[in-house]
Amino acid sequence: MPIPPSARSGTGLSNWVQIARMAPPTGLAEVGSLGAVETTTDASPQTFDLVVIGGGPGGYAAALYGASAGLDVALVEFDKVGGTCLHRGCIPAKELLETAAIVRTVKHAGDFGVVVEPKSVDWSTTLERKQAVIDKLAGGVLGLLKNRKVTVLNGIGTLGADRTVHVRGADGETATLVGDAVILASGSVPRVIPGFEPDGHTVVTSDEFFHIDHIPRRAVVIGGGAIGCEFASTLADLGASVTILEALPKILPGCDEDVTRSVLQAFKKKGITVRAGVAVKGHSGAGTGEGGSGTVVSFGEDETIETDLVVVSVGRVPYTEGLLAEGTGVVVGERGHIEVDAHCRTGVPSIWAVGDAIATPQLAHVAFAEAILVIKDLLGEHPAPIDYSRVPWAIYCSPEVAFAGHSEATAKEAGFDVVVSKHRFAGNSRAMILGETDGLVKIIAEKLPDGTGGRILGVHMVGPWVTEQLSGGYLAVNWEATVAEVAEFIQPHPSLTELFGESVLALTGRSLHG
Ligand code: NAI
Repeated sequence: MPIPPSARSGTGLSNWVQIARMAPPTGLAEVGSLGAVETTTDASPQTFDLVVIGGGPGGYAAALYGASAGLDVALVEFDKVGGTCLHRGCIPAKELLETAAIVRTVKHAGDFGVVVEPKSVDWSTTLERKQAVIDKLAGGVLGLLKNRKVTVLNGIGTLGADRTVHVRGADGETATLVGDAVILASGSVPRVIPGFEPDGHTVVTSDEFFHIDHIPRRAVVIGGGAIGCEFASTLADLGASVTILEALPKILPGCDEDVTRSVLQAFKKKGITVRAGVAVKGHSGAGTGEGGSGTVVSFGEDETIETDLVVVSVGRVPYTEGLLAEGTGVVVGERGHIEVDAHCRTGVPSIWAVGDAIATPQLAHVAFAEAILVIKDLLGEHPAPIDYSRVPWAIYCSPEVAFAGHSEATAKEAGFDVVVSKHRFAGNSRAMILGETDGLVKIIAEKLPDGTGGRILGVHMVGPWVTEQLSGGYLAVNWEATVAEVAEFIQPHPSLTELFGESVLALTGRSLHG
């Protein structure tokens, strides 16, 4: 459903944001369309314990968790339930990364004595599989909402005064809802750089990337953050010649130095060129690709690079257009985020905001946690605020990156006297068996007077399947466990997680293999 022009104006962000892809709504009628409530403007408002605007991870999690706590919930979504994560983000990105992983496996099959025909990628099958996974997961979320009797309305929700939410459906139908509580979960959209407006084929953001109709021969990725590195890794493994152009002095800002170095080494082996500390200026649109396709990107000191695809991954901006009527009292800050306190309260009684629309880490699992926090808060259960400095991070490029807590640099900046342990997957038996020995585990702990490690401050991993290995480290950091405590735990042998165990054990002053 196209968003009405009236909803696109008003915040002054229009030059910076790209309106999210507005695919026609599907399936929502199964769980209750606008028809589920009175739809004339004259009708008295429908009342709910909770009205949620936005059906991405923040919004649908609030609806599900709230309904499981016995609340009568309405969820308003103008596109598809599942949001960016499911339809244009985490899930399709990981699906394409998996195709890339299979390509790598097949490429090295001969090392294991498995003889395979020359490989090729049938991109249409890849895209079909990706869509099948998305559709199955989307059906699952809708099923859960239905089972918990959440009323799902397919339309644009606008918060008015007194916790009233006006909903406009595709055909001009309207409904008015009043919630005892309202949660705003309107998400974010890709930031675009002037001069690099997406056209869907030569210049794309993550919104369009998942629909490109072939694997390009050459690609330029602008922005070396989480999305940029995941896309660069995917494209390189699929055979494209990839260059990352990053404005800051290094890619993956926020990651520990050793982790970034390890990713850089692995990217170099894949043939990815990383140009950090360069500004992009524009692109000409005149390429020498098939039929004149492609474009020439100018950057840095008068440098140019010709490419078939430009992927713009320079961050995401909150999406709040059309969300707030005049006079709600909800404050949207200069950078477009809805302002909230540590409990995600907007300051207007009984109105909360969660997910990418607020200035917290733009991660689906953080949105889930915020949704749970808010439901507990509105039920008067006095939940502890989320400690955003210790949430788990997971970046699924190859090699994968996962971490929680302080990096060595931020621990020192915070005034800690630290001791550090690093162990490489090159010495890990399971990694050798897999044939994936790039990467390391790094533990940062407070230094005790005898030089051994005390409280574990940060756990940083880069290597095979580390996104699946972080949980032990995440628990250690968040439980404020000490090296001595965690060193008591046994890791299975042979396993990748042994490297975490070894790295912690080494900080006791004694070790096995490390
Ligand atoms: P990001 O903020 O992580 O990285 C953007 C990068 O682009 C930064 O390194 C920045 O310095 C660079 N940049 C900005 N303007 C630039 C310019 N004009 N030229 C060149 N470089 C420029 O944003 P990203 O990667 O787009 O991801 C958006 C959000 O989604 C982030 O908060 C990210 O953490 C989250 N995300 C997390 C994932 C994960 O955890 N697996 C996967 C994808 C996204």
